[in-house]
Amino acid sequence: MSNIVIVGSQWGDEGKGKIVDLVTERFDVVARYQGGHNAGHTVSIQGKKYILHLIPSGILHPGKLCVIGNGVVLDPFAFQEELKTLQNSGISIQNRVFVSNRAHLIMPYHRAIDAAEEQRRGAEKIGTTARGIGPCYEDKMARRGIRVADLFFPDLLRAKVRANVEFKNRLFKHIYQLPPMDADEISDTYLAQAQALAAFVTDTAEFLSRIIHEGRSILFEGAQGTLLDVDHGTYPFVTSSNATAGGACTGTGVGPRHIDGVIGIAKAYTTRVGGGPFPTELHDPVGRHIQQKGTEFGSSTGRPRRCGWFDAVVVRYATLINQVDTLVITKLDVLDELDEIQICVGYRYRGRVLDCFPTEISVLDEVEPVCEKWPGWKTDTSRIHHYEELPRQAREYLDRISQLIGTDISIISTGPNRAETIVLEQSPRLQQWFSPQS
Ligand code: GDP
Ligand code: IMO
Ligand code: MG
Repeated sequence: MSNIVIVGSQWGDEGKGKIVDLVTERFDVVARYQGGHNAGHTVSIQGKKYILHLIPSGILHPGKLCVIGNGVVLDPFAFQEELKTLQNSGISIQNRVFVSNRAHLIMPYHRAIDAAEEQRRGAEKIGTTARGIGPCYEDKMARRGIRVADLFFPDLLRAKVRANVEFKNRLFKHIYQLPPMDADEISDTYLAQAQALAAFVTDTAEFLSRIIHEGRSILFEGAQGTLLDVDHGTYPFVTSSNATAGGACTGTGVGPRHIDGVIGIAKAYTTRVGGGPFPTELHDPVGRHIQQKGTEFGSSTGRPRRCGWFDAVVVRYATLINQVDTLVITKLDVLDELDEIQICVGYRYRGRVLDCFPTEISVLDEVEPVCEKWPGWKTDTSRIHHYEELPRQAREYLDRISQLIGTDISIISTGPNRAETIVLEQSPRLQQWFSPQS
């Protein structure tokens, strides 16, 4: 059985949730390895919409096990709320959700600092989801974070919270002009959650190791996307974790030798939420058409997503960083009505065309996309289930993307529902990973 990573190849919201849901039946366990409830993965099943933030999208498949790995930052209240929402929708969570005892906890002061830091940055703000994600990872790296396991040692937890709050209160007073927080009050509310959480908490690295040794398979569900990765993305306009495929190892404790492949997800165009450079962004009626037709509004914050043409420089870079084996192109249908579609094939910077993705934000801000123009297909693709039945112009568009990225495309999504998907069963990667004997 193969263990596969699903990773976003742009700035997030590529449709990872839909594709995870689509392939989950081929796996035993779905594991999240980074991020937190900043993610919003929407899955539509028979007209009903489910939005997952923390819990892997695999939860929608009865019997599949779901892991929240050590690389995730966990807000225990958001976690409980999401469980409740799922249960209210008739999804059974009994013995199916496993939370790492090494995951770091998002605390109330993380949320306060996230908001205050954005305000302090003013025009330079990142446009975070205000969930406390960045400040929580900061504390993790500064070695003063509080982990899930600490909830089960009340005296230790209280001491850690006190030390943290004492430090944060100084920041609140002198830097952010915020009222102080009460350490014991915070400890009380978190300790009150401990019992409810206990049933889910385990050493998930050990658990996943057992799964692998029993010959069962794991699907690693990435959140965010490559260009939001803290190391490889458009820093500082990124999230604070490793969203790229390598994060699947550090974020779960599964070694690289156990990972058999990487599926990169990209939209047929590009979007991004929040601040930061976006070379192919459209500020015209076509951009607004894509936003409306693609319902490009954030599933976590409701913010409108910025929209632009497919950027092959971005996706080629993502393919390199993640060593993507095969690509999934989503939301092809959103382009159905356009007369002309563009693909960015390079960046022009001060008179020359760059041959790799720039590191400096100032360069990215200044580049001009070099675009190819392709004719639109002006046909509804949402009911098409076979590649050969796609209009010729759509096939040419996809073939050009595949050629520019240097990777085959094995799945094409033409609508939010499971059935609105074209799977190229002859794809060598899909055959290798999903054939019964693999
Ligand atoms: P994720 O964060 O990568 O899981 O992506 P999101 O769920 O945030 O955003 C993708 C949105 O597009 C969701 O609302 C999906 O239901 C929807 N979606 C996914 N695939 C398709 C598609 O092929 N066509 C259309 N029209 N919508 C899609
Ligand atoms: P999914 O998993 C799109 C963006 C925020 C902001 C930046 C930092 O649904 O693809 P953070 O709150 O993480 O510190 O914000 O990252 N961002 C996302 N954009 N999809 C996401 O997740 C995102 N998660 C964070 O908008 O620009
Ligand atoms: Mg999303």
